[in-house]
Amino acid sequence: MKKKSLCIDIYEVEDENELSPDDIKLIHLARKMTFNAYAPYSEFYVGSAILLENGEIVTGSNQENAAYPSGICAERVCVFSASSQYPNVKMKAIAVAARNPRESMNYPISPCGSCRQVLLEFEHKQKEPIKILLTGEYGKVFIITKAEDLTPISFSSDDLKRLLL
Ligand code: THU
Repeated sequence: MKKKSLCIDIYEVEDENELSPDDIKLIHLARKMTFNAYAPYSEFYVGSAILLENGEIVTGSNQENAAYPSGICAERVCVFSASSQYPNVKMKAIAVAARNPRESMNYPISPCGSCRQVLLEFEHKQKEPIKILLTGEYGKVFIITKAEDLTPISFSSDDLKRLLL
């Protein structure tokens, strides 16, 4: 048996001034977008913002439904919106922020499995990394330099191609 270990880098930023102006803007927009969430069931509000290569910014928030599984996370709202409005423009970075009225959130949240898979799809498609910025309502920011780091040993279109051969 051979042991294989994985290592990923996560940058923890305590002081916003360490971030680039683009990253600060994206974080602030994601936090603002938590107020656009439709989350009457969980009352957990998530906002996101994507910076595109052409300088445009696309935003999103979580959208819930009385039929719970029909709801969708802020990250996927944002990524799908960016892809449908700007189909061939690369995504440079996505910021994700969460707000929970039951406690003041000074720590980051991390995307669920489905959102990681979707981010990975578009990262593979564009053949360039999507930087991921994670934060709470305020406080520190985690930076992950590419979606692949959040989803190692993933299933992708490469596997489908192999099946078809
Ligand atoms: N949610 C997101 O929008 N993004 C995440 O990264 C985690 C969870 C949403 C889904 C649901 O509307 C609510 O937060 C509670 O899970």
